[in-house]
Amino acid sequence: QASFIGGVSTEVWGYNGTVPGPLIEAKVGDRLKVHFKNALPEGTTIHWHGLRLPAEMDGTLAMQNPVPPGGTFEYEFELRDAGYFWFHPHVMGDLQVQRGLYGTIVVRGEEPGFDRELAVVLDDIRLLPSGAIDEYPDDEGLAIGREGKTLLFNGHVLPTVYAQPGETLRLRLVNTANGRFFNFRIAGHTLRVIGSDGGLVEQPFDTETLLLSPGERYDVLVSLRGDVGDRFAITNEPYERGHDTGLGPALPLATLELAGDPVSAGALPDGGPPQPLFSEMAPIESIVLDEGTVDGMLAFTINGAQHPDVTPITVPLGELRIFEVRNDSEMDHPFHVHGTFFQVIARDGVPTSVAERFLKDTVIVQQKSSLTLSMPFEEVGRWMFHCHILEHAELGMMGEIVVV
Ligand code: C2O
Ligand code: CU
Repeated sequence: QASFIGGVSTEVWGYNGTVPGPLIEAKVGDRLKVHFKNALPEGTTIHWHGLRLPAEMDGTLAMQNPVPPGGTFEYEFELRDAGYFWFHPHVMGDLQVQRGLYGTIVVRGEEPGFDRELAVVLDDIRLLPSGAIDEYPDDEGLAIGREGKTLLFNGHVLPTVYAQPGETLRLRLVNTANGRFFNFRIAGHTLRVIGSDGGLVEQPFDTETLLLSPGERYDVLVSLRGDVGDRFAITNEPYERGHDTGLGPALPLATLELAGDPVSAGALPDGGPPQPLFSEMAPIESIVLDEGTVDGMLAFTINGAQHPDVTPITVPLGELRIFEVRNDSEMDHPFHVHGTFFQVIARDGVPTSVAERFLKDTVIVQQKSSLTLSMPFEEVGRWMFHCHILEHAELGMMGEIVVV
């Protein structure tokens, strides 16, 4: 049971009984062992979103059977990369994640300077007046991906976050929603982006708003300006991801309040550690995302087919591949690949700058546009790729890369 809105309780599914589930903190090179027991009435798995690991630990149905009710599974692997990751089921993902099954992992490596750190989980939930989770979205809701009117910041509605004036606040952000994009903003402050899905970026950049599609992470530093008692709204700014989703007003997520003794502001970093560039030449293969109807039913397709009928892509171990991911539909799709990071090397055929080639595992392919992605494959096995709007994945926008 959880309580999101005044006085009513909501039955949720959670890891260790909370929503969000636990935050696991570790450092690069640690071995993570998770003794998983399924106390749900249906089968499930845990997928470790963004972690590079052996395929049999990846928690997808391509590599393991669902853990049955009452069953157990031992997940164990080494944490190879620093960054902010998350975990969630890969069985009926749309329903299981919506019910509350997600948690986060911070893996520390070489770290930048900051005064205070907050790991943030952004989500939304669709509640009935009774407090129960509304699992039957209307047609529009299913097409655009399930969205709820109740926005959650670390599982709470409109919480207040406290920090001291002058502090450098490090926010690690992940969007765990099924369908909602978060366009994150803190009034009166600039966000310095120092990292994303695959850890720290080489060239940090400043922005006023930061767009996160489901599955994406960003690591930002904020130099807090103002005096004790000042309050700043943290909001979700409108963004049009298709089907007029961008028409509403900005929505409040949380309040940042300055409290305690002022500290003298430190300088924000403008350089991060060097990172590899996945820039060898390789043949370009295309992956086409689209929506339509198959046998009169709403369908989301990859190369014209629906999962599990999408032809798998075979890659020899150790090869780098370049995919042009083209979105022919009228809405954005967050494209996610398991088990590797990639770099965006072109947008609509125009090469990106080196500064934009940081490591990602989930990226927004905007409506009617394309991204060219370069990615290495360093583990054998069957790896899923899919739209991270979970309703779209479940309605067919999912395929496999088989590394042999
Ligand atoms: Cu976070 Cu295959 O997903
Ligand atoms: Cu999608």
